[in-house]
Amino acid sequence: MSSLNKKFPRLLPVPITAGSKTSDLIDGAFKAYNGGRLAEACRLLTEKMLAEDGVVGLSLTGALTPAGLGRAAIVPLMKAGFVDWIISTGANLYHDLHYGLGMQLFAGSPFLNDVTLRKEGVIRIYDVLFDYDVLLDTDAFVRQVIQGEEFQKPMGTDEFHFLLGKYVYEREVQLGIEETSVLSAAYLYEVPVFTSSPGDSSIGMNVAAMSLRGSKLMFDVNRDVNQTAAVVFDAKSSGKTSSVFILGGGSPKNFMLQTEPQIQEVMGIEERGHDYFLQCTDARPDTGGLSGATPAEAVSWGKIDPDTLPDCVVCYADSTITLPLITAYALDRVAPRPLKRLYARRDAMLEAIRSQYLSHGTVEKIEYRTDLDSPKNGRSGRSVTGNVRDTEEDASQPAV
Ligand SMILES: NC(=O)c1ccc[n+]([C@@H]2O[C@H](COP(=O)([O-])OP(=O)(O)OC[C@H]3O[C@@H](n4cnc5c(N)ncnc54)[C@H](O)[C@@H]3O)[C@@H](O)[C@H]2O)c1
Repeated sequence: MSSLNKKFPRLLPVPITAGSKTSDLIDGAFKAYNGGRLAEACRLLTEKMLAEDGVVGLSLTGALTPAGLGRAAIVPLMKAGFVDWIISTGANLYHDLHYGLGMQLFAGSPFLNDVTLRKEGVIRIYDVLFDYDVLLDTDAFVRQVIQGEEFQKPMGTDEFHFLLGKYVYEREVQLGIEETSVLSAAYLYEVPVFTSSPGDSSIGMNVAAMSLRGSKLMFDVNRDVNQTAAVVFDAKSSGKTSSVFILGGGSPKNFMLQTEPQIQEVMGIEERGHDYFLQCTDARPDTGGLSGATPAEAVSWGKIDPDTLPDCVVCYADSTITLPLITAYALDRVAPRPLKRLYARRDAMLEAIRSQYLSHGTVEKIEYRTDLDSPKNGRSGRSVTGNVRDTEEDASQPAV
Protein backbone atom coordinates (compact mmCIF):
# COMPACT_ATOMS: atom_id res chain seq x y z
CA MET A 1 0.00 0.00 0.00
CA SER A 2 1.26 3.51 -0.77
CA SER A 3 1.83 6.14 1.88
CA LEU A 4 -1.10 8.24 0.70
CA ASN A 5 -2.93 7.75 3.97
CA LYS A 6 -0.02 9.34 5.83
CA LYS A 7 0.05 12.41 3.59
CA PHE A 8 -3.58 13.20 2.80
CA PRO A 9 -6.98 13.00 4.50
CA ARG A 10 -9.26 10.25 3.21
CA LEU A 11 -11.89 11.50 0.78
CA LEU A 12 -14.98 10.52 2.71
CA PRO A 13 -17.90 12.92 2.24
CA VAL A 14 -20.64 13.38 4.81
CA PRO A 15 -24.12 12.68 3.39
CA ILE A 16 -26.19 15.85 3.05
CA THR A 17 -29.31 15.98 5.20
CA ALA A 18 -32.28 18.33 5.42
CA GLY A 19 -31.30 21.38 7.42
CA SER A 20 -27.52 20.95 7.00
CA LYS A 21 -25.70 24.12 8.07
CA THR A 22 -23.78 25.82 5.27
CA SER A 23 -20.47 25.38 7.06
CA ASP A 24 -21.12 21.65 7.67
CA LEU A 25 -22.16 21.23 4.03
CA ILE A 26 -18.92 22.84 2.83
CA ASP A 27 -16.71 20.83 5.18
CA GLY A 28 -18.62 17.60 4.55
CA ALA A 29 -19.44 17.64 0.86
CA PHE A 30 -17.13 20.11 -0.92
CA LYS A 31 -14.30 17.65 -1.37
CA ALA A 32 -12.64 18.05 -4.76
CA TYR A 33 -11.93 20.34 -7.71
CA ASN A 34 -13.20 23.88 -7.21
CA GLY A 35 -15.56 22.65 -4.50
CA GLY A 36 -12.46 21.44 -2.68
CA ARG A 37 -10.74 24.78 -3.27
CA LEU A 38 -13.80 26.62 -1.95
CA ALA A 39 -13.72 24.53 1.22
CA GLU A 40 -9.99 25.29 1.57
CA ALA A 41 -10.74 28.99 1.02
CA CYS A 42 -13.33 28.90 3.82
CA ARG A 43 -10.88 27.27 6.19
CA LEU A 44 -8.05 29.61 5.17
CA LEU A 45 -10.22 32.63 5.95
CA THR A 46 -11.57 31.35 9.24
CA GLU A 47 -8.57 29.48 10.64
CA LYS A 48 -5.66 31.65 9.45
CA MET A 49 -6.66 35.01 7.99
CA LEU A 50 -9.10 35.93 10.76
CA ALA A 51 -7.03 34.34 13.53
CA GLU A 52 -5.19 36.45 16.08
CA ASP A 53 -6.78 39.65 14.89
CA GLY A 54 -5.10 39.45 11.47
CA VAL A 55 -5.75 42.31 9.05
CA VAL A 56 -7.91 41.33 6.06
CA GLY A 57 -8.12 43.39 2.86
CA LEU A 58 -10.90 42.65 0.37
CA SER A 59 -10.58 43.49 -3.32
CA LEU A 60 -13.73 43.70 -5.43
CA THR A 61 -14.11 43.41 -9.18
CA GLY A 62 -16.90 42.14 -11.36
CA ALA A 63 -20.48 43.35 -11.07
CA LEU A 64 -20.98 42.23 -7.47
CA THR A 65 -23.01 45.05 -5.89
CA PRO A 66 -25.54 45.16 -8.76
CA ALA A 67 -26.19 41.49 -7.96
CA GLY A 68 -26.96 42.43 -4.35
CA LEU A 69 -23.78 41.04 -2.82
CA GLY A 70 -23.06 44.30 -0.99
CA ARG A 71 -26.08 43.95 1.24
CA ALA A 72 -26.06 40.14 1.25
CA ALA A 73 -22.41 39.46 2.02
CA ILE A 74 -19.96 42.38 2.05
CA VAL A 75 -21.79 44.46 4.67
CA PRO A 76 -22.24 41.44 7.00
CA LEU A 77 -18.51 40.67 6.66
CA MET A 78 -17.65 44.30 7.49
CA LYS A 79 -20.06 44.36 10.42
CA ALA A 80 -18.54 41.18 11.86
CA GLY A 81 -15.07 42.75 11.67
CA PHE A 82 -13.98 40.20 9.04
CA VAL A 83 -13.02 42.83 6.43
CA ASP A 84 -10.73 45.59 7.64
CA TRP A 85 -10.10 47.49 4.42
CA ILE A 86 -11.32 47.36 0.82
CA ILE A 87 -10.14 48.15 -2.70
CA SER A 88 -13.02 48.18 -5.16
CA THR A 89 -13.74 49.13 -8.71
CA GLY A 90 -15.63 52.40 -8.89
CA ALA A 91 -18.49 50.50 -10.53
CA ASN A 92 -19.12 48.38 -7.45
CA LEU A 93 -19.27 51.52 -5.32
CA TYR A 94 -21.47 53.36 -7.82
CA HIS A 95 -23.98 50.52 -8.07
CA ASP A 96 -23.82 50.14 -4.29
CA LEU A 97 -25.30 53.65 -4.10
CA HIS A 98 -28.55 52.44 -5.69
CA TYR A 99 -29.16 50.16 -2.72
CA GLY A 100 -28.17 52.82 -0.16
CA LEU A 101 -30.51 55.32 -1.79
CA GLY A 102 -33.41 52.85 -1.66
CA MET A 103 -33.66 52.40 -5.44
CA GLN A 104 -35.03 49.28 -7.06
CA LEU A 105 -33.13 46.68 -9.07
CA PHE A 106 -34.82 43.59 -10.48
CA ALA A 107 -33.89 39.93 -10.99
CA GLY A 108 -34.54 39.66 -14.75
CA SER A 109 -33.17 37.44 -17.47
CA PRO A 110 -30.09 37.42 -19.70
CA PHE A 111 -32.28 36.53 -22.69
CA LEU A 112 -34.17 39.79 -23.23
CA ASN A 113 -34.17 41.96 -26.34
CA ASP A 114 -31.71 44.77 -25.63
CA VAL A 115 -33.10 47.01 -28.36
CA THR A 116 -36.50 46.81 -26.66
CA LEU A 117 -34.89 47.42 -23.28
CA ARG A 118 -33.16 50.49 -24.68
CA LYS A 119 -36.46 51.85 -26.04
CA GLU A 120 -38.10 51.24 -22.64
CA GLY A 121 -35.27 52.89 -20.73
CA VAL A 122 -34.13 49.71 -19.02
CA ILE A 123 -30.49 48.97 -18.19
CA ARG A 124 -29.25 45.36 -18.15
CA ILE A 125 -26.24 43.85 -16.37
CA TYR A 126 -26.56 40.26 -17.55
CA ASP A 127 -29.79 39.29 -15.73
CA VAL A 128 -30.02 42.33 -13.42
CA LEU A 129 -32.41 45.02 -14.65
CA PHE A 130 -33.14 48.58 -13.54
CA ASP A 131 -34.57 51.78 -14.94
CA TYR A 132 -32.33 54.34 -16.62
CA ASP A 133 -33.64 56.77 -13.98
CA VAL A 134 -31.68 54.81 -11.38
CA LEU A 135 -28.51 55.96 -13.14
CA LEU A 136 -29.73 59.54 -13.55
CA ASP A 137 -30.88 59.82 -9.92
CA THR A 138 -27.66 58.27 -8.60
CA ASP A 139 -25.59 60.64 -10.75
CA ALA A 140 -27.56 63.62 -9.42
CA PHE A 141 -27.02 62.43 -5.82
CA VAL A 142 -23.25 62.27 -6.37
CA ARG A 143 -23.13 65.71 -8.01
CA GLN A 144 -25.24 67.33 -5.29
CA VAL A 145 -23.30 65.79 -2.42
CA ILE A 146 -19.87 66.68 -3.75
CA GLN A 147 -20.81 70.36 -3.95
CA GLY A 148 -20.31 70.44 -0.16
CA GLU A 149 -17.42 72.42 1.31
CA GLU A 150 -15.71 69.28 2.72
CA PHE A 151 -15.26 67.95 -0.83
CA GLN A 152 -13.50 71.05 -2.21
CA LYS A 153 -9.93 69.78 -2.06
CA PRO A 154 -7.69 66.98 -3.32
CA MET A 155 -8.13 63.84 -1.20
CA GLY A 156 -7.43 60.13 -1.14
CA THR A 157 -10.25 57.91 -2.30
CA ASP A 158 -10.61 56.50 1.24
CA GLU A 159 -11.46 59.98 2.50
CA PHE A 160 -13.77 60.59 -0.45
CA HIS A 161 -15.67 57.34 0.15
CA PHE A 162 -15.88 58.02 3.89
CA LEU A 163 -17.42 61.45 3.26
CA LEU A 164 -19.75 60.09 0.58
CA GLY A 165 -20.70 57.18 2.84
CA LYS A 166 -21.87 59.62 5.50
CA TYR A 167 -24.46 61.01 3.08
CA VAL A 168 -25.54 57.51 2.05
CA TYR A 169 -25.96 56.60 5.72
CA GLU A 170 -28.04 59.73 6.34
CA ARG A 171 -30.24 58.82 3.36
CA GLU A 172 -30.70 55.30 4.74
CA VAL A 173 -31.81 56.78 8.07
CA GLN A 174 -34.27 59.11 6.30
CA LEU A 175 -35.68 56.17 4.33
CA GLY A 176 -35.86 53.92 7.39
CA ILE A 177 -33.59 51.29 5.83
CA GLU A 178 -30.32 49.94 7.19
CA GLU A 179 -27.28 47.86 6.27
CA THR A 180 -28.00 48.16 2.56
CA SER A 181 -24.77 49.72 1.36
CA VAL A 182 -21.03 49.05 1.47
CA LEU A 183 -20.27 52.79 1.46
CA SER A 184 -22.64 53.49 4.30
CA ALA A 185 -21.22 50.56 6.30
CA ALA A 186 -17.69 51.77 5.56
CA TYR A 187 -18.61 55.13 7.08
CA LEU A 188 -20.27 53.56 10.14
CA TYR A 189 -17.51 51.01 10.80
CA GLU A 190 -14.65 53.27 9.60
CA VAL A 191 -13.44 50.72 7.06
CA PRO A 192 -11.13 52.44 4.54
CA VAL A 193 -12.40 51.94 0.98
CA PHE A 194 -10.10 52.77 -1.93
CA THR A 195 -10.60 52.59 -5.65
CA SER A 196 -7.61 51.97 -7.86
CA SER A 197 -8.89 53.84 -10.91
CA PRO A 198 -11.09 56.65 -9.66
CA GLY A 199 -11.86 58.00 -13.13
CA ASP A 200 -13.14 54.66 -14.38
CA SER A 201 -16.73 54.68 -13.13
CA SER A 202 -19.85 56.81 -13.07
CA ILE A 203 -18.72 58.26 -9.72
CA GLY A 204 -15.49 59.47 -11.37
CA MET A 205 -17.45 60.67 -14.42
CA ASN A 206 -19.64 62.90 -12.23
CA VAL A 207 -16.64 64.19 -10.29
CA ALA A 208 -14.97 65.05 -13.62
CA ALA A 209 -18.05 66.87 -14.92
CA MET A 210 -18.29 68.91 -11.71
CA SER A 211 -14.68 70.03 -12.15
CA LEU A 212 -15.93 71.87 -15.25
CA ARG A 213 -18.24 73.78 -12.90
CA GLY A 214 -15.34 74.78 -10.66
CA SER A 215 -15.39 71.89 -8.16
CA LYS A 216 -11.98 71.57 -6.48
CA LEU A 217 -12.41 67.84 -5.75
CA MET A 218 -9.45 65.85 -7.07
CA PHE A 219 -8.35 62.31 -6.30
CA ASP A 220 -4.91 62.09 -4.72
CA VAL A 221 -3.63 58.85 -6.22
CA ASN A 222 -0.22 59.23 -4.56
CA ARG A 223 -1.90 59.32 -1.18
CA ASP A 224 -3.84 56.15 -2.08
CA VAL A 225 -0.67 54.28 -3.08
CA ASN A 226 1.13 55.29 0.12
CA GLN A 227 -1.95 54.94 2.34
CA THR A 228 -2.69 51.37 1.21
CA ALA A 229 0.97 50.47 1.80
CA ALA A 230 0.66 52.14 5.22
CA VAL A 231 -2.29 49.88 6.12
CA VAL A 232 -0.21 46.78 5.33
CA PHE A 233 2.91 48.16 7.03
CA ASP A 234 0.87 48.97 10.13
CA ALA A 235 -0.39 45.37 10.29
CA LYS A 236 3.02 43.79 9.77
CA SER A 237 4.93 46.13 12.06
CA SER A 238 2.48 45.46 14.89
CA GLY A 239 3.04 41.72 14.53
CA LYS A 240 -0.28 40.94 12.84
CA THR A 241 -0.80 39.01 9.65
CA SER A 242 -1.84 40.82 6.48
CA SER A 243 -4.17 38.83 4.21
CA VAL A 244 -5.72 39.53 0.84
CA PHE A 245 -9.18 38.26 -0.12
CA ILE A 246 -9.45 38.84 -3.86
CA LEU A 247 -12.75 38.59 -5.73
CA GLY A 248 -12.22 38.62 -9.51
CA GLY A 249 -8.92 40.29 -10.36
CA GLY A 250 -8.42 43.48 -12.36
CA SER A 251 -6.77 46.61 -11.14
CA PRO A 252 -8.01 46.34 -7.51
CA LYS A 253 -6.16 43.01 -7.23
CA ASN A 254 -2.88 44.61 -8.18
CA PHE A 255 -3.54 47.72 -6.09
CA MET A 256 -3.94 45.50 -3.05
CA LEU A 257 -0.92 43.29 -3.79
CA GLN A 258 1.41 46.11 -4.88
CA THR A 259 1.43 47.40 -1.29
CA GLU A 260 4.26 44.95 -0.56
CA PRO A 261 6.54 45.96 -3.47
CA GLN A 262 5.78 49.59 -2.52
CA ILE A 263 7.14 48.84 0.97
CA GLN A 264 10.09 46.68 -0.15
CA GLU A 265 11.16 47.58 -3.68
CA VAL A 266 10.31 51.29 -3.72
CA MET A 267 10.54 52.39 -0.09
CA GLY A 268 13.45 50.10 0.80
CA ILE A 269 11.82 48.80 3.99
CA GLU A 270 12.45 45.13 4.72
CA GLU A 271 9.31 42.99 4.50
CA ARG A 272 8.39 39.49 3.28
CA GLY A 273 5.00 39.87 1.67
CA HIS A 274 1.35 39.37 2.53
CA ASP A 275 0.78 36.33 4.71
CA TYR A 276 -2.32 34.81 3.11
CA PHE A 277 -3.81 35.00 -0.38
CA LEU A 278 -7.36 33.87 -1.16
CA GLN A 279 -8.72 34.50 -4.64
CA CYS A 280 -12.03 33.54 -6.26
CA THR A 281 -11.87 34.20 -9.98
CA ASP A 282 -12.61 32.98 -13.47
CA ALA A 283 -9.33 34.39 -14.80
CA ARG A 284 -6.78 31.87 -16.07
CA PRO A 285 -3.07 32.15 -15.28
CA ASP A 286 -1.63 31.16 -18.66
CA THR A 287 -2.30 34.46 -20.43
CA GLY A 288 0.20 36.34 -18.27
CA GLY A 289 -2.44 38.82 -17.11
CA LEU A 290 -2.46 39.93 -13.49
CA SER A 291 -6.08 38.90 -12.94
CA GLY A 292 -5.17 35.23 -13.29
CA ALA A 293 -1.69 35.42 -11.75
CA THR A 294 -1.25 32.81 -9.03
CA PRO A 295 0.01 33.38 -5.49
CA ALA A 296 3.19 31.50 -6.47
CA GLU A 297 3.91 34.08 -9.17
CA ALA A 298 3.19 36.81 -6.61
CA VAL A 299 5.92 35.36 -4.36
CA SER A 300 8.53 36.18 -6.99
CA TRP A 301 7.53 39.84 -6.77
CA GLY A 302 7.71 39.94 -2.97
CA LYS A 303 3.93 40.30 -2.84
CA ILE A 304 3.38 37.08 -0.88
CA ASP A 305 5.48 35.57 1.90
CA PRO A 306 7.00 32.32 0.53
CA ASP A 307 6.59 30.61 3.91
CA THR A 308 2.80 30.81 3.75
CA LEU A 309 2.47 29.95 0.05
CA PRO A 310 1.26 26.37 0.75
CA ASP A 311 -1.77 27.86 2.54
CA CYS A 312 -2.79 30.14 -0.33
CA VAL A 313 -5.93 29.24 -2.29
CA VAL A 314 -7.31 30.08 -5.72
CA CYS A 315 -10.87 28.94 -6.36
CA TYR A 316 -11.97 29.09 -10.00
CA ALA A 317 -15.64 29.92 -9.56
CA ASP A 318 -18.06 32.80 -9.95
CA SER A 319 -18.00 35.23 -7.00
CA THR A 320 -21.81 35.26 -6.94
CA ILE A 321 -21.52 31.64 -5.78
CA THR A 322 -18.35 31.72 -3.70
CA LEU A 323 -18.88 34.95 -1.74
CA PRO A 324 -22.23 34.06 -0.13
CA LEU A 325 -20.92 30.60 0.77
CA ILE A 326 -17.65 31.91 2.23
CA THR A 327 -19.58 34.59 4.14
CA ALA A 328 -22.03 32.07 5.61
CA TYR A 329 -19.16 29.75 6.55
CA ALA A 330 -17.21 32.51 8.27
CA LEU A 331 -20.24 33.79 10.20
CA ASP A 332 -21.00 30.21 11.30
CA ARG A 333 -17.48 29.41 12.41
CA VAL A 334 -15.95 32.63 13.78
CA ALA A 335 -17.31 35.02 16.41
CA PRO A 336 -17.47 38.67 15.37
CA ARG A 337 -14.16 40.46 15.90
CA PRO A 338 -13.72 43.95 17.37
CA LEU A 339 -13.79 46.50 14.54
CA LYS A 340 -10.32 47.84 13.73
CA ARG A 341 -11.66 51.19 12.48
CA LEU A 342 -8.51 51.72 10.41
CA TYR A 343 -9.90 54.84 8.72
CA ALA A 344 -9.65 56.71 12.01
CA ARG A 345 -5.91 55.99 12.08
CA ARG A 346 -5.13 56.93 8.49
CA ASP A 347 -2.91 59.93 9.26
CA ALA A 348 -0.97 58.07 11.97
CA MET A 349 -0.44 55.05 9.71
CA LEU A 350 0.78 57.25 6.87
CA GLU A 351 3.17 59.07 9.19
CA ALA A 352 4.59 55.75 10.43
CA ILE A 353 5.44 54.51 6.94
CA ARG A 354 6.71 57.94 5.90
CA SER A 355 9.25 58.01 8.71
CA GLN A 356 10.39 54.44 7.93
CA TYR A 357 10.70 55.34 4.25
CA LEU A 358 12.74 58.44 5.00
CA SER A 359 15.15 56.41 7.12
CA HIS A 360 15.42 53.36 4.80
CA GLY A 361 14.54 54.51 1.30
CA THR A 362 16.88 56.15 -1.17
CA VAL A 363 16.49 58.06 -4.39
CA GLU A 364 19.28 55.94 -5.85
CA LYS A 365 18.87 52.25 -6.69
CA ILE A 366 17.85 50.20 -3.67
CA GLU A 367 19.90 47.18 -2.65
CA TYR A 368 18.18 43.87 -3.52
CA ARG A 369 17.62 41.71 -0.47
CA THR A 370 17.27 37.97 -0.78
CA ASP A 371 17.64 36.95 2.86
CA LEU A 372 14.42 34.97 2.89
CA ASP A 373 15.98 32.31 5.09
CA SER A 374 16.06 34.71 8.00
CA PRO A 375 13.29 34.34 10.61
CA LYS A 376 10.00 36.03 9.80
CA ASN A 377 9.72 39.63 10.88
CA GLY A 378 7.52 40.88 13.71
CA ARG A 379 5.83 37.71 14.84
CA SER A 380 9.02 35.72 15.28
CA GLY A 381 11.76 38.14 15.94
CA ARG A 382 12.87 40.04 12.84
CA SER A 383 11.70 43.59 12.71
CA VAL A 384 10.50 45.23 9.52
CA THR A 385 13.31 47.68 9.90
CA GLY A 386 15.78 44.87 9.36
CA ASN A 387 17.09 44.80 12.92
CA VAL A 388 17.30 41.21 14.13
CA ARG A 389 16.32 41.04 17.77
CA ASP A 390 18.77 38.73 19.45
CA THR A 391 17.68 38.84 23.08
CA GLU A 392 14.37 38.00 24.69
CA GLU A 393 14.30 41.47 26.12
CA ASP A 394 14.54 42.93 22.61
CA ALA A 395 11.79 40.66 21.34
CA SER A 396 9.36 42.18 23.82
CA GLN A 397 9.74 45.57 22.15
CA PRO A 398 7.42 46.69 19.33
CA ALA A 399 8.75 45.78 15.90
CA VAL A 400 9.19 49.36 14.78
N1 LIG B 1 -21.15 52.50 -14.49
C1 LIG B 1 -19.95 52.26 -14.04
O1 LIG B 1 -19.45 52.95 -13.18
C2 LIG B 1 -19.19 51.06 -14.56
C3 LIG B 1 -19.86 49.93 -14.98
C4 LIG B 1 -19.14 48.79 -15.34
C5 LIG B 1 -17.77 48.81 -15.30
N2 LIG B 1 -17.11 49.93 -14.91
C6 LIG B 1 -15.63 49.90 -14.76
O2 LIG B 1 -15.03 48.94 -15.61
C7 LIG B 1 -13.89 48.33 -14.97
C8 LIG B 1 -13.90 46.81 -15.06
O3 LIG B 1 -15.07 46.27 -14.56
P1 LIG B 1 -15.35 44.89 -13.86
O4 LIG B 1 -14.80 44.86 -12.50
O5 LIG B 1 -16.82 44.69 -14.02
O6 LIG B 1 -14.72 43.75 -14.66
P2 LIG B 1 -13.59 43.03 -15.39
O7 LIG B 1 -14.32 42.42 -16.50
O8 LIG B 1 -12.43 43.89 -15.67
O9 LIG B 1 -13.19 41.88 -14.36
C9 LIG B 1 -12.05 41.90 -13.55
C10 LIG B 1 -11.63 40.47 -13.29
O10 LIG B 1 -12.57 39.81 -12.45
C11 LIG B 1 -13.02 38.60 -13.06
N3 LIG B 1 -14.45 38.47 -12.76
C12 LIG B 1 -15.43 39.32 -13.14
N4 LIG B 1 -16.61 38.91 -12.67
C13 LIG B 1 -16.38 37.78 -11.96
C14 LIG B 1 -17.21 36.90 -11.22
N5 LIG B 1 -18.55 37.09 -11.11
N6 LIG B 1 -16.64 35.83 -10.61
C15 LIG B 1 -15.31 35.62 -10.70
N7 LIG B 1 -14.48 36.42 -11.39
C16 LIG B 1 -15.00 37.49 -12.02
C17 LIG B 1 -12.75 38.78 -14.54
O11 LIG B 1 -12.54 37.57 -15.17
C18 LIG B 1 -11.48 39.61 -14.52
O12 LIG B 1 -10.37 38.79 -14.32
C19 LIG B 1 -13.92 48.80 -13.53
O13 LIG B 1 -12.88 49.72 -13.33
C20 LIG B 1 -15.25 49.42 -13.37
O14 LIG B 1 -15.23 50.47 -12.40
C21 LIG B 1 -17.80 51.05 -14.55
